[in-house]
Amino acid sequence: MKKMTIGAFLLTMMFGGANAQSLKSPDGKFEMDFQLKQGVPYYNLKFNGKTVVEDSKLGLRIFKDSSIKFASEIAKPEDAQFDLNSGFTKTAEKKDSKNETWQPILGEKKNYINHYNELAVTLNQSSTDRSIVVKFRLFNDGLGFRYEFPQQKNLNYFVIREEDSEIDFPSDMKAWWMVADYDSQEYKYQETKVSEIPSRWPQAADANASQTLIKDAVQSPLMLKVEGKEPLYINVAEAAVLDYPASHLEVDAKNFKFKTHLTADRQGAKGYMQTPMVTPWRTIIVAPKAEDVMDSKMIFNLNEPTKYTDTSYIKPTKYMGVWWEMIIGKSQWAYGQPESNVRLGETDFTKLTPNGNHGANNTKVKDYIDFASENGFQGLLIEGWNVGWEDWFGRSKEYVFDFITPYPDFDIKMLNEYAHSKGIDLIMHHETSGSATNYERWADKAFQLMNKYGYKSVKTGYVGDIIPRGEHHYSQWTINHYYRIAEKANEYKIMVNSHESVRPTGESRTYPNYISAEAARGTEYEAFGGNNPDHQTILPFTRWMGGSMDYTPGIFQTKLDYYFHGDKRFVKTTLAKQLALYVTMYMPLQMAADLPENYKKHMDAFQFIKDVAADWDDTKILSAEPGDYVVTARKAKGTENWFVGGITDENKRDYTVDFSFLDKGKKYEAIIYEDGKDADYIDNPQSYNIYKKQITSKSKINFKMVRSGGFAISVKPVK
Ligand code: NOJ
Ligand code: CA
Repeated sequence: MKKMTIGAFLLTMMFGGANAQSLKSPDGKFEMDFQLKQGVPYYNLKFNGKTVVEDSKLGLRIFKDSSIKFASEIAKPEDAQFDLNSGFTKTAEKKDSKNETWQPILGEKKNYINHYNELAVTLNQSSTDRSIVVKFRLFNDGLGFRYEFPQQKNLNYFVIREEDSEIDFPSDMKAWWMVADYDSQEYKYQETKVSEIPSRWPQAADANASQTLIKDAVQSPLMLKVEGKEPLYINVAEAAVLDYPASHLEVDAKNFKFKTHLTADRQGAKGYMQTPMVTPWRTIIVAPKAEDVMDSKMIFNLNEPTKYTDTSYIKPTKYMGVWWEMIIGKSQWAYGQPESNVRLGETDFTKLTPNGNHGANNTKVKDYIDFASENGFQGLLIEGWNVGWEDWFGRSKEYVFDFITPYPDFDIKMLNEYAHSKGIDLIMHHETSGSATNYERWADKAFQLMNKYGYKSVKTGYVGDIIPRGEHHYSQWTINHYYRIAEKANEYKIMVNSHESVRPTGESRTYPNYISAEAARGTEYEAFGGNNPDHQTILPFTRWMGGSMDYTPGIFQTKLDYYFHGDKRFVKTTLAKQLALYVTMYMPLQMAADLPENYKKHMDAFQFIKDVAADWDDTKILSAEPGDYVVTARKAKGTENWFVGGITDENKRDYTVDFSFLDKGKKYEAIIYEDGKDADYIDNPQSYNIYKKQITSKSKINFKMVRSGGFAISVKPVK
C-alpha cells in the first residue's frame, strides 16, 4: 500500500468529496468520482466499495502554436500556460445513460450489450477562456473516459504535446506486458510485478524490421492482477483510436501509476486537432474473474456503429495460403535472383533470371486450390504474386510495388477462373513495405484489378519503416491511412486483413470490413525467433481485447528440421494445441497455415480444422488465467453445434470440461482431439488421440494437457 503524504492528506480533507461528482455503474458495483482539486481534474474508481484506482490526474499539454515545425524547437516552458490540465472551473454537468443491444456483423456472440451510465463535465479555463468536456461512461464491466473539445473561438486548431491521463493504482500487482514502441507490437510478453517492470524492461525487446522503443513504457492493452484472497483482474486499454495516435503507458513503478504516452510524429507532435473533436476512450476493465475480462465487449461498445450501407459482402472466411513455405524459407516471394536491383516500369521481369524457387507459380497455386477446395475452404492467400520482391526489404524504397503487375509465372486470369470453378476465392496480397504513400497512389487501380478478377479480400502489410519518412506505424497520420484504406476497400466491397498495422481498439464496429489484423507476434515468429508457450494464453487478454487477430495457426509439422536438416526452429506447441487455437482465438478470418503435404499425413486431426466455425452466436469462456491457460466454448452461427478449445502454457495441466452449457435433455455427439499420453511440445508434438463420445449437458470429460498442449472438441446434436 502506498502511504499518503501529509500534504496529500490535507488536500483530500480540504477538497475531497465536497465538489465531487459521483457516478455508479448500472448494477451499482462500480462507483467513480470526478473532482477539481485547486483547478486540476481528478477521477477515481471503486469496485464493490474498494478503491481500484486512486485519485488520478487528467489533462493534456498542447503547443502554443498550431503550425509547428519541430516540437523540440518550439516547446518552451512558458507554453505551460496553454496546457489543458489546470486552472479549471466546472461550468456544466450532464448525466445520461444507455441500454442497447446491437449485433456485430461478425462476432463472438449474436448480441453485444451496451449498458452504461454517463457523466459529462464541462470545464472552463478562465485564463484562456477555453472549454473542454471530460466524458465518463461507467459500465458493469468497467470505466471509459475521454476528452471532448467543442468548437470555440479560443480553441479552434491545436496540436497536442502529450496527453497526461493517469491511472494510479493503490498497490503493486502482477502485470502481463510488453515493451512500448511507436512501430512494433511484435514482442514477447513479460510477466512481472508492476514494481519490477523497469528492471526487466531492458531485456524485454528483441529486433524488428521497424522499431522505435519508448524506454520504461509498456504497450496497451495491459493486463493486471491484484493477487490475494479476493483477486481482481484489471485490463487497461483504449477504444476508438481514430484520427489520433495510439497510446502507450509510462510506468511509475514506485507508485504503481501509469500515464498515457502518445505516439509522436517526426516533428514531435502528438495529434493535430480541429474542433469539434474527441480523443479515444481510455478504458479500465475490472472483474474478480479473469474470464469476465476476456469476455468484456466494452471496447467495442465505445466505438460508433457503422455507417456502411451494404455489409452483405462481409463474410467469415476460412483460408489456406501459399505462405508458410515462404515464412520458413522453403520457397521465395521473389521470382528473380534475390537482391537483384529492380525498378518498376523499367525492369522487364520476363527477362529476369528466375531464382527457380518462386512460391506463387501456376502449378503450385493450382495444387493449393485443389487441396483447399477438396477440404471446404473459401479462400486461398497467395503472396509473392506481384513484381518487386527482389529488393523490397530494408531499403526504405518508396516505389517497391504497383499492386497490379503479376510475375511472368503467375497467370492471374487463369488462376482466378480455376479457383472460382472450384469454389475458392483467391485472397489478394498487398505488401506495402511500409510505403503507405505509394499504396494510396495505387489503391484504386489495385482494388479495380481485384474486382475484375473476383478477389473478395486483401491482406495488406507494412513491413519496415513507414513512408512518408519519419511517420510511425502508430502515429495519427498512419492510423488515418489504415482506415482510409478500409473505407476505400468498402467502396469496392473488399474485406481487409492488415499486418504490421496498429492494434485494433474496437473499430470493427465502425469499419466492419476491417475484419482482422495482425499487430502482435503471430505464428510467423515461431520461424523468426520463437513464441513462448504461454504466448497464446496472454494474447486474448491483451491484443484481442480490441479485435480479432490473424494469428495463422494450424501448423502440424512443428519441427522445421523436417525441411532443413539440423534446423533447430520449432513451433512451441503440440499438434492438439494448434487445433485448440481455432476456438480459444476469435478469428472470423481463419487460416490453416501449414502446407497441404503436412495435412495429408494427419487427415483425421485436420478434420477439426475443416469442421470448426469462424463466426459465432455465443461464446463462453469456461476457464482462463493469463499466462497459464484458456478454455473456451463457442456456438457456431446459425447452428446447434459447439466447439471447445483448451490450451496450457509450459506446464502440463488437468482440466475437466463441464458441458452444462449444452441444452438440457438433448443428446450430442462429441469428437475429441487431445494430446497423446506421450505427447510433448519439444519431444513428441505430433502424438494425439481422437475419439467419439455421446454426451449431454450432464457430461464431464477430463483432459490431461501436456506441456504446451491442449484439446479440441466438436459437439453436434444427434438427430
Ligand atoms: C509480414 C507478414 O506478417 C507476413 O504474413 C507476410 O508474409 C510478410 N510480411 C510478407 O509480406
Ligand atoms: Ca504461466
